[in-house]
Amino acid sequence: MSQSIYPPSSEFSAKAHVSGMEGYNALYEKAKDDPEAFWGELAEKELFWFEKWNHVFEWNPPFVKWFAGGKTNVSYNCVDRHLTTPRKNKVAILWEGEPGDQRMITYQELHRLVSRFANVLKARGFKEGDRAIVYMPMVPELPVALLACARLGITHSVVFGGFSAEALKARIQDLDAGVVITADGGWRRGKEVRLKDAVDESLAGCPSVKDVIVLKRTGSNVTMKEGRDHWWHDLDATASEDCPAVPLDSEHPLYVLYTSGTTGKPKGILHTTGGYLLQATMTMKWVFDLKEEDTYWCTADIGWVTGHSYIVYGPLSAGATSVMYEGAPDFPAFDRFWRIVEKYRVTTFYTSPTAIRALLRQGDQWPNMHDLSSLRLLGSVGEPINPAAWEWYHRVIGKGRCPIVDTWWQTETGAIMIAPMPGAVPLKPGSGTLPLPGILPDIVDFNGIPMEEGREGFLIVRRPWPSMLRTLWGDPERYKENYWSRIPGIYFTGDAARRDADGYYWILGRVDDVMNVSGHRLSTMEVESALVRHPAVAEAAVVGRPHEITGQAVCCFVTLKKGDYDPAVLGKELRQWVAHEIGAFARPEEIRFTEGLPKTRSGKIMRRLLREIVTSNAVTGDVTTLEDMGSITRLAAQHDEE
Ligand code: WTA
Repeated sequence: MSQSIYPPSSEFSAKAHVSGMEGYNALYEKAKDDPEAFWGELAEKELFWFEKWNHVFEWNPPFVKWFAGGKTNVSYNCVDRHLTTPRKNKVAILWEGEPGDQRMITYQELHRLVSRFANVLKARGFKEGDRAIVYMPMVPELPVALLACARLGITHSVVFGGFSAEALKARIQDLDAGVVITADGGWRRGKEVRLKDAVDESLAGCPSVKDVIVLKRTGSNVTMKEGRDHWWHDLDATASEDCPAVPLDSEHPLYVLYTSGTTGKPKGILHTTGGYLLQATMTMKWVFDLKEEDTYWCTADIGWVTGHSYIVYGPLSAGATSVMYEGAPDFPAFDRFWRIVEKYRVTTFYTSPTAIRALLRQGDQWPNMHDLSSLRLLGSVGEPINPAAWEWYHRVIGKGRCPIVDTWWQTETGAIMIAPMPGAVPLKPGSGTLPLPGILPDIVDFNGIPMEEGREGFLIVRRPWPSMLRTLWGDPERYKENYWSRIPGIYFTGDAARRDADGYYWILGRVDDVMNVSGHRLSTMEVESALVRHPAVAEAAVVGRPHEITGQAVCCFVTLKKGDYDPAVLGKELRQWVAHEIGAFARPEEIRFTEGLPKTRSGKIMRRLLREIVTSNAVTGDVTTLEDMGSITRLAAQHDEE
């Protein structure tokens, strides 16, 4: 297949923070040759410090410290420091609720809200080193709660509002949290998600929790337990607006965020203060090319790392106007995202390939109903974006004008690692392109030997970076084992990738998503990407199934665009299509048509479950991150009928 290349327009380059490949190369080389000087200068220039650090970084593999001894505060950097600049009355958070209510909070107003809520926490006796669980809808009080915790040095852990009471309980217990910050509920597709009920259910086995602070969002009836539960507005009403940010060590734990590992028990990824904030801030400039006048929107939920780094900490530290939306992309109709872009004149739009494919499936009429001419930059995160979705995003949403930054990173990496600097690096649809300054990835085999150009291998990172996870909460052994022992002393991402002749990275998905068919290594992603290029296919998920002769056979789950199809004819056609697109060895053994695919709440297809269906038809393990249990049941039932 011939490869399209999209160089930056001269107009975009001329105004970008980093222009042309010379600009990129100069930064990359400087960071590579002298990381201490590179990051040290940036930390001094880009962040506020109460006291300077002793060393830029200290690396005792696999443990790293950045700017240790330096004193700073994330809340101060995200709020206070803007108040002495023209940003003080700039909108920091531009929020829209699902029912259509809206709020615009300036930096000055944010300072008042954060200071008051920090005083609420302080008055209840919470302080530096304590842990808070935050279980809230996507309302402005969620970032306010995070910034209030950060102001005092309370380590927060956001639990996504879609998690069950059981999942919430496991996280509260693992952290021994003293306070839970929640709300009566939130809105999702016109229905109330009842959060307080789930909190009540989870707290039976959580003696560490002394206080529950409840925001009134939906106004529905909730049970308030005397002595333990307090309304946010009652406590807030009498709180003072004077609450200086506490100077904290650069390595002070900012947050823990749980993510699923290969076992059933979630991993508590720990991020700290100075290094995390520096990389989150720098990537706002390098990748999103943030300008003072931008209206920047990341559609993620703050329950995931993308929301932490790219709705709250990165944008606010960089002084952006960060748009936040409470509800579902298809409520009340499929044009909700485009309606918001038009209404607020959004300039920068960052979303996931899953969302793009879901909206693509509904047809061009939805985006075409709106004026999207304010957009200047688009972004993608969370999984590889297939070229067909990329082209649609570029043409129908960006009108061919807007670069797309495909950003590779992980909960563990804290901030973006591989992505184009949009004024410098020519784009290739489906590639995250090149590593950012200071990031030294490589592609290696089982023994850590670098792979040749074009060959698939493990994606690793050779040198610690500022926003790297520091450990797994309470489990340093699992941290060493998971990330640093596969190839001793080198960070193992768990992703497979290859690099082309231009040094561009092509992420092929998780290592356990790689199939081996007749001795050919074949990525599930490659087959999926081929399938979605077919005009009838909306989404596809591919897994390997044990096969007597070929080792593994390719098994595809496919959802279709609207239309009338004969499954037998189309099934045959799709098998032939894949063989044609990739090669005969990749011809799927089986195509199953389904109404939906099982996904985590962050939108990733749960291939593990599909693999279980095709191998044993049984589903076990942790499925708390699943969005639509119904689709699993239907897939399993369909199997029984055959
Ligand atoms: C995948 C989300 C290809 C990858 C920030 C990674 C991607 C995992 C991309 C982390 C991308 C994320 N291209 N794959 N641009 N972004 N991934 O922890 O497999 O939810 O390891 O972090 O998502 O997912 P996580």
